[in-house]
Amino acid sequence: MTFRELWDQIAPIGLSAATGGYLRYAWTEPELALRDWFRSQCRERELTMEEDGNGNLFAWWNPSDEPGVLTGSHFDSVPHGGAYDGPLGIVSALLAVDALRDRGFRPARPIGIAAFAEEEGSRFGLACLGSRLLCGAVEAETAAALRDRDGVTLGSAMGVVPAGARKEVLTRIGSYVELHVEQGRGLAESGRPVGVASAIWPHGRWRLDFTGEANHAGTTLMADRHDPMLTFAYTVLAANKEARLRGAHATIGRIAVEPNATNAIPARVSAWLDARAAAASVVEDLVAAVHGRAVERSHRDGTQVSLTPESVSAETTFDGELRDRIARLLDDAPILPTGAGHDAGVLSAHVPTAMLFVRNPTGVSHSPAEYASDADCEAGVTALADVLAELAS
Ligand code: HGY
Ligand code: MN
Ligand code: MN
Repeated sequence: MTFRELWDQIAPIGLSAATGGYLRYAWTEPELALRDWFRSQCRERELTMEEDGNGNLFAWWNPSDEPGVLTGSHFDSVPHGGAYDGPLGIVSALLAVDALRDRGFRPARPIGIAAFAEEEGSRFGLACLGSRLLCGAVEAETAAALRDRDGVTLGSAMGVVPAGARKEVLTRIGSYVELHVEQGRGLAESGRPVGVASAIWPHGRWRLDFTGEANHAGTTLMADRHDPMLTFAYTVLAANKEARLRGAHATIGRIAVEPNATNAIPARVSAWLDARAAAASVVEDLVAAVHGRAVERSHRDGTQVSLTPESVSAETTFDGELRDRIARLLDDAPILPTGAGHDAGVLSAHVPTAMLFVRNPTGVSHSPAEYASDADCEAGVTALADVLAELAS
């Protein structure tokens, strides 16, 4: 089966006709449909299915007590995200197993495919929720109480309290290799279709709550206002400036305004700051600077500001030996860092972990414009098959 034939089976699932982007939030109908599709694909391949009680699915070829080589990624998307971020890793894994079988390869140790839950944190706000639960990086009760934008808790969305840390599942993973579309232009500039990850930048998401005094838009004198929208607006510009000064990345792409009325001064504005940099100390310094500038401005506006960390991810430096072994195997593939988080970042604290990137000509991601050519995706499948054969021999 070609990449395009398998890819087209999931292309319509969760697609927004209005934007061409995907709405595949964890435990919603489109993402559940993708899980069912994955299960049927694994059954067709006679892979042994396993669920870890945290929403993560695992399918094993040649299961045994021997720690295996795991690959895979996630199905969930950011709102109106691209087609490739996540699903490319899972579809490529299925095709890599097919390719190995076509070659007559017989794994000496298990080869597994994972579909991790809520990697984007788009619904419950904590990135890599499924892999963090599996690895014990978040307590099951804490996770179960997380709420989506409609107030639905993870526990009720799952229908059960998540199982939490599953050591016995982790011990079955000897190494993890995740294939992912590149979310940048490093490969486009190098002229190579496949690359190997060196590191993931430390990054995180903080919620800023600006509170002021709700009042009438028409009758309240400008001098009498305590308008949180002003403090918020100033903070957005400050975040941009403070990031540039530090060679870091700061984004405010999501806000919530109460009461969100056309003719009322808001009572409250919530804004989510996504901050990333090559070093954790720079991220911390950036967030502190942004918070400081917001508080300064709040004194002028007579408003209040609070800062709440919602999802913090430490720096990941991938296993050097595994990285170099894979790069050599792939004809000296380029080795490059990324500012995007991944489940591989969480797993890397527990098992030797690597990532393969597939060229994205424009580098655009978290957008309907995200793209990788079929030829490069096929090259990714071949590269993944070669890596799995190497590690499972
Ligand atoms: O936000 C990220 O870096 C990833 O796409 N979850
Ligand atoms: Mn993503
Ligand atoms: Mn991803």
